Amino acid sequence: MSEPKFTPRVFSGIQPSGGLTLGNYLGAIKRFVSMQDENFETVYCMVDLHAITVWQDPEDLAHNTRELAAGFIASGISPEKSILINQSQVPEHAQLAWIFNCVARMGWMGRMTQFKDKAGKNTENVSLGLFAYPALMAADILIYHATHVPVGEDQKQHLELTRDIAAKFNHDYGVDFFPITEPVIEGAATRVMSLRDGSKKMSKSDPSDASRINMTDDADAIAKKIRKAKTDPDALPSEVEGLNERPEARNLVNIYAALNEQSVEDVLREVGGQQFGTFKPLLAELAVSKLAPISTEMARLMAQPDEIDKILAKGAAQAREITAPILKKTYEIVGMVS
Ligand code: TYM
Repeated sequence: MSEPKFTPRVFSGIQPSGGLTLGNYLGAIKRFVSMQDENFETVYCMVDLHAITVWQDPEDLAHNTRELAAGFIASGISPEKSILINQSQVPEHAQLAWIFNCVARMGWMGRMTQFKDKAGKNTENVSLGLFAYPALMAADILIYHATHVPVGEDQKQHLELTRDIAAKFNHDYGVDFFPITEPVIEGAATRVMSLRDGSKKMSKSDPSDASRINMTDDADAIAKKIRKAKTDPDALPSEVEGLNERPEARNLVNIYAALNEQSVEDVLREVGGQQFGTFKPLLAELAVSKLAPISTEMARLMAQPDEIDKILAKGAAQAREITAPILKKTYEIVGMVS
């Protein structure tokens, strides 16, 4: 069997299940933007079908999908360079997901830490969709034959499962049809932590708004949250090793490095020895200078929801030129009569 050549193609997605956070921006979107100018076709997605694995009010879902699209564009995703879609407008995602539900094993899904975290002790009452979530995610990626997937650290296990599903499909049907996708988990901010607790991930679902920076926060809110962020009493170290056992200090330095596109080593060379009383205003100023223009642009775009809908409709049409032939071929491989 000859090796198929896969076009270098990036796919990634974000759930429209609430506002965007600094974690989404630094862990994912910033990399989405830079990959547009590398040698890739890029496809970015609002995963509305994933969002409804937990209850979403319909009006909120529609609002959050458009706001997420605005966030992507305001951050620098260009609808000219990238295909920008919401998942439900490209039906091949869900169609391939069904095939993958029949490839993935119950045991694989049961080991997913994100499922265990979200379901907690309540496994009898969560939706079946929440359990099947990673098979839909594999379908999102593989319906494009995507070769690279930029994500934050928390999605690593789901990407390993995506590779397992591709390998099992290829093995079971004796083909070399789906690529074994490479995760792209890079930079200083692959895991941005809560501003209130350095052991917890920054998350849109944390009940405390002070724990996160929202991409819609204004300059005052951003500065206030950074000023109040939990820290320890020591000065900043000059070497990376000095951040060991100091999760809150590490988090703020990582955020600074990622926002300023510097390495952590370089940041510590500049700020090592400073007290938080000096460092926090610097970080707040940097964060406001990088984030405030994005939230302003998001607000401008949100005033024209029809324009956003047009961009998503165009994206869906472009996407289906890629996904329809791949689904057709998958059905043929599986033996579906057409
Ligand atoms: P979601 O919506 O939870 O998060 C979107 C992206 O943001 C990253 N991220 C973070 N990165 C660093 N620090 C944080 N605190 C932080 N919080 C979130 C996530 O790692 C992710 O890259 N299952 C996915 C959505 C998805 C997807 C896909 C991703 C569906 N299909 C296909 C890639 C490819 C999710 O829930 O991401």
